[in-house]
Amino acid sequence: MIAAIYPGTFDPLTFGHLNIIARASLICNRLIVGVAENSGKNPLFSLEERLEMAQEQISKMQQSGEIKQDIQVESFTGLLTDFAHKNSARMIIRGLRAVADFEYEFQMASTNRRLKPDLETIFLTAPEQQHFVASSLVKEVARYDGDISSFVPAEVQTAIAQKLKS
Ligand code: PNS
Repeated sequence: MIAAIYPGTFDPLTFGHLNIIARASLICNRLIVGVAENSGKNPLFSLEERLEMAQEQISKMQQSGEIKQDIQVESFTGLLTDFAHKNSARMIIRGLRAVADFEYEFQMASTNRRLKPDLETIFLTAPEQQHFVASSLVKEVARYDGDISSFVPAEVQTAIAQKLKS
């Protein structure tokens, strides 16, 4: 029984994240999407909103058959390694976009391994169409009224528009 955590800030959730969730669900028996509070990043969406967004989009993919497995969506504060330990997870899944991510991801994986040596980080490469998409860029494009429909689901698009208006 292999449990895995897919952690992130998900501010907001993108098609790239959903692609990783679907693929990660195929390589473990239990997948937990860990939505980090990450107040240091000053997220646009509250923790509850990010949780709700992830839950809604994952349910939609389960209904359409794109995801066949049950997936837990949970928030966490504090260290990722502690969250993984609490959930008896053996793997951390991270999506890896183009080269820019490498240094940060390498540091994070190495630090987490130092903290908890039996917890492995597994990288899934980002889907080709989404290789350059970062949540931060999606927000910036939206801020200037650009079209973000190919980066995020319609409901997320609406949520971003409403958030930026308020
Ligand atoms: O989607 P992100 O913002 O790149 O995700 C970063 C995240 C949430 C995985 C990272 O910030 C994290 O693990 N935060 C929890 C606190 C922690 O364990 N920090 C040390 C990581 S080496």
